[in-house]
Amino acid sequence: MSDQGCTMIVFGGTGDLAHRKLAPAIYNLSVEDKLPPGFSMIGVGRKQKLSSQYREELAASVSKYSPATWDENKWAALSLKLHYFAGDMRYAENYPSFKTTVETYNLESGANGNYLYYMALAPRLFTPIAENLKHHGMTCSDSGWRRLMIEKPFGSDLLSARDLNAALSTVIDEKNIYRIDHYLGKEMLQNILVLRFANSIFEPLWNERFIDHVQISAVESEGIGDRGRYYDRAGAMRDMFQSHLLQMLALTAMEPPLKADPDTIRSEKLKLLNAVQLWPGEEEKSNLVFGQYHGFRHEEDVAEHSQTETFAALKLAINNPRWQGVPFYMRTGKKLENKLAKIVIQFKNPPSLYFGDPLGGLNRDQSNLLNVLTLKVQPREGVVFQFNIKKPATIEEIVPVEMDFCQPCAFMINTPEAYERLLADAMDGDSARFSSWKEIESSWALTDAIYNEHQRSRSKLDIYEPGSTGPAAAEKLLAGDGRHWWES
Ligand code: BG6
Repeated sequence: MSDQGCTMIVFGGTGDLAHRKLAPAIYNLSVEDKLPPGFSMIGVGRKQKLSSQYREELAASVSKYSPATWDENKWAALSLKLHYFAGDMRYAENYPSFKTTVETYNLESGANGNYLYYMALAPRLFTPIAENLKHHGMTCSDSGWRRLMIEKPFGSDLLSARDLNAALSTVIDEKNIYRIDHYLGKEMLQNILVLRFANSIFEPLWNERFIDHVQISAVESEGIGDRGRYYDRAGAMRDMFQSHLLQMLALTAMEPPLKADPDTIRSEKLKLLNAVQLWPGEEEKSNLVFGQYHGFRHEEDVAEHSQTETFAALKLAINNPRWQGVPFYMRTGKKLENKLAKIVIQFKNPPSLYFGDPLGGLNRDQSNLLNVLTLKVQPREGVVFQFNIKKPATIEEIVPVEMDFCQPCAFMINTPEAYERLLADAMDGDSARFSSWKEIESSWALTDAIYNEHQRSRSKLDIYEPGSTGPAAAEKLLAGDGRHWWES
């Protein structure tokens, strides 16, 4: 926990993100006594309202989204530190009074001139607000730090991301820009490198000699809620693949970092991302499936003939010696049967000398007799390893069984929500769990290339039923290779 104090300024303070994620995260940090001593928060929004009204609205959200820890007395202690400023921050004339307000609260709470700006609003507003902050002398100071947290998506393609980055870099130093990918704050993502490199049994097998393929899924049962305007422009690839899925891939497949410091890790992730491409060749067989749930076109703010993908499944290759010939299947989508995120490593079959072929001729169906390591990111964090044993009381029958590590059961603590951790990190000046500009640039280059391929091949958009596992073509993507998605 930082002991330096912090005034947090949330642009978009009345928006969905502030209510669903930021306010509950701040509340939980406060309950756990993890906020810096001079903490206060100023929510900024266009609507006129008093701070007292703002606090009441946030209280309703926090009790709704964090019911397990909600306590009115604890909220009362925090709520006095929450304030509201009304103004359209695109316009320079609002900045003099804004600056005075921030300085006043900062002084009152004893935050030592430390400002944490959080952009929780539409990306098109990032640049004008950042430039206004600069012109009004609010992005640098001799008496404290200035940091900028930026929500994803950072741009909407490579070009717009470059423009945004160019604009921000004239306003604030790269080291003070914290680009959020909230998946990096999830417990199991932080665990991937530990699992791989702090255990001697995994790393020797973590390559093309022993791994058949890898599956990375982040699927959701929810739809798009009231985010039609954003989502219809973004789609699953820009919303989830470019950020969360590629970060999961990078951590799973990167080379060991020489040091555990943030820059070394990011530079290994970058090398990996630069080596990723859509699985090549095979003209007759598409390695890309785009789907849309039935009913999407009737959602609010979605175009009547929208071609936006709410589901994407892809087969990727990684061009380096470790992963030669190993497919990485990735999948994300809305309105599916389950909400879960996980990484599945399927190992190659053992040489079948001992058991004859197929496996001693005893099991007709070998397709389940596989070694599979599953890293469960959510909902229940854990690691499951499937291996084969002889079925008890039989002589020759082989069956798959599981070793199942359940993280919350083992440690009996609720792991902090991703936003809790990321906010605490930014207040502490720890950028390890944030994406670097180079990673984002590389992720957009790949995402753009995949979109181009989708357009070039004129692949169709497969409509799928809400509550299903997605379009049938996504099953075929693996079935065509003699594989299947691991669903559970
Ligand atoms: C966000 C996406 O980044 O991640 C949302 O914009 C998505 O569309 C969300 O629902 C998923 O996050 P989580 O933590 O619920 O898996």
